[in-house]
This record gives sequence, structure tokens and C-alpha cells, in this order.
Amino acid sequence: MSSLIIYFSRTGGNYVAGDIRNLEKGNTEIVAEMIQKLTGAELFEAEPVVPYSDDYSACIEEAKNDKKRDARPELKKYPEHMESFEKIYLGYPNYWGTMPMAMFTLLEHFDFAGKTILPFCTHEGSGLGDSVRDIRRLCPGADVRPGLAITGSRAAQAEKEVKKWILKEEKECRI
Ligand SMILES: Cc1cc2nc3c(=O)[nH]c(=O)nc-3n(C[C@H](O)[C@H](O)[C@H](O)COP(=O)(O)O)c2cc1C
Repeated sequence: MSSLIIYFSRTGGNYVAGDIRNLEKGNTEIVAEMIQKLTGAELFEAEPVVPYSDDYSACIEEAKNDKKRDARPELKKYPEHMESFEKIYLGYPNYWGTMPMAMFTLLEHFDFAGKTILPFCTHEGSGLGDSVRDIRRLCPGADVRPGLAITGSRAAQAEKEVKKWILKEEKECRI
């Protein structure tokens, strides 16, 4: 069964253990790459045409406004041959209690009916928030699994947890 990993992640200033640090690789990207390594699935990064600011406080405001306006930020590109993938690992940071609005744009672009969606989220305390409920609403007919929540600042240490989740969800995956 062929699988695709779609993720959104941001580099730049982020809040890590009480401090703002500059991240060269986003937390969700770290987890997405772990899943790629463990499953051999293809990897696709969802990138908005207008990126969120590198500055943490500015990004917080931008994302807050996006959510308030129920925005659908335009994406640079979309995954190709979506019809050939049956399982979609869907990764994103928790932004204001759900996915970044750019993920809403992506999910509305396709018909996911009949596919299995495995959400994974990085966060700093709110877990998956409302994201799984939102994915279920945006993807009627898809089997949207309960999802995996990883604390963002611990993403690099999460391989064991990620592997356990994949094994539980995807008995047949190549590990
Ligand atoms: C705009 C913004 C909003 C956020 N909102 C939340 C939130 O509501 N709950 C939470 O637990 N973490 C929140 N966070 C923390 C991120 O979810 C966390 O740092 C995540 O790991 C970032 O992923 P990334 O490095 O892949 O972009 C927020 C971070 C940003 C930048």
C-alpha cells in the first residue's frame, strides 16, 4: 500500500523550554523525516506562497489572524498523483489549537474519501487540540486515525515513540 507524508513545518524563532531559539529545522520536519526513514514513504512539504515570519512574535500574530479570518493561504505547490496514495501521514505544528490554516487549504484541494489519514502534530502543551476533528470535517469519507502528538522541543528524541505509533497503526509497514 503506498504512503505519502505531507507536512508543514517552520524554521526560525521558536519557543523552546522557556526561551526563544532559532531553529534550523522545524520540529514537525524532524518527525516527518523519522517517519520517512521508518516507512520509506514519500515526503512532501506544504509551503505557503507567503511564508510565516521568522520572528516568533510576528508569526504568532500572523497565525492568529489567519485563524480569525478562516484564511486559506495559497500554497506553492500540491502533491502529485494523490490518487496513487492510500495512506497519508499528515504532519503539522499545533497553531492556536489546530493546524496552520495552510493545511486547511491543502486538505480542501483533494478528495480524501477512501484514504487513511494518520495525523501527527508537534506542540508545546496543547497536544492535537481540535486538529483531528477539523481533519475529519475537511476530509469526508476518509478514515482519520486518532493521531500522534509529540512535544516539539523533544522531537529529536521521539523516534521510539514514533516507531511504536507506526507499528501500532501500520502493521505492514517496512521497519
Ligand atoms: C503561531 C504559533 C502558534 C502556536 N500555538 C500553539 C498552541 O496553540 N498550542 C501549543 O501547544 N503549541 C503552540 N505552538 C507551538 C508549536 O506548536 C510548536 O513549537 C511546534 O513544535 C512547532 O512546529 P514546527 O517547528 O514544525 O513549526 C504555536 C507556535 C506558533 C509559532
